[in-house]
Amino acid sequence: MKHVIIGITGSIAAYKACDLITLYRKNGLEVTCIMTEEARHFITPLTLETLTGNKVAEDMFALPENRSPQHIALAEKTDLVVIYPASANVIGKLAHGLCDDLLTCVIFATHAPVLIAPAMNANMFTHAVVQQNIAALKKIGYIFIGPIKGRLASGRHGIGHVAEVPDLWRASQRVLS
Ligand SMILES: Cc1cc2nc3c(=O)[nH]c(=O)nc-3n(C[C@H](O)[C@H](O)[C@H](O)COP(=O)(O)O)c2cc1C
Repeated sequence: MKHVIIGITGSIAAYKACDLITLYRKNGLEVTCIMTEEARHFITPLTLETLTGNKVAEDMFALPENRSPQHIALAEKTDLVVIYPASANVIGKLAHGLCDDLLTCVIFATHAPVLIAPAMNANMFTHAVVQQNIAALKKIGYIFIGPIKGRLASGRHGIGHVAEVPDLWRASQRVLS
């Protein structure tokens, strides 16, 4: 069975990860969620654990189940990492080699492909620094899905709305096959 890690960050779109989990599970994939600390403001581990049937990974320093540290065990186990939704902050950290939480450490420790679905305010998305970070990550092989134009957390419409679940599913299938 293929194993997917869904990284969930502190975005208003975090709830959408639930639909992606459901689709992956329906199609026979095993799913583990890694939440950033800020993601906890938007969605609960209880929901994610109920949908995946797996414990949510969020604490870098939790005692490992075997001798391998948690971030290495997860990095080696997974076939695909999907960040859905991806905050400007996590994109910036990845682009600059910062790994101060479980999600970023797993991403740097894995050889699995990484799909990133940004979600943010239009001004944040079009900010030159965010665009530079995205370009840098694309250059080294990270695959970006979206964002699309749509309703944003502010209530305005614009670019920055997270890509829809079917788009993530199609990209995941392409990468996993
Ligand atoms: C209501 C609300 C919605 C937010 N939505 C987003 C978002 O969609 N994208 C984003 O980049 N930041 C968003 N933020 C800001 C992030 O939560 C903040 O940058 C946080 O530090 C991200 O942490 P993380 O990347 O470790 O998850 C939002 C904040 C609030 C209060």
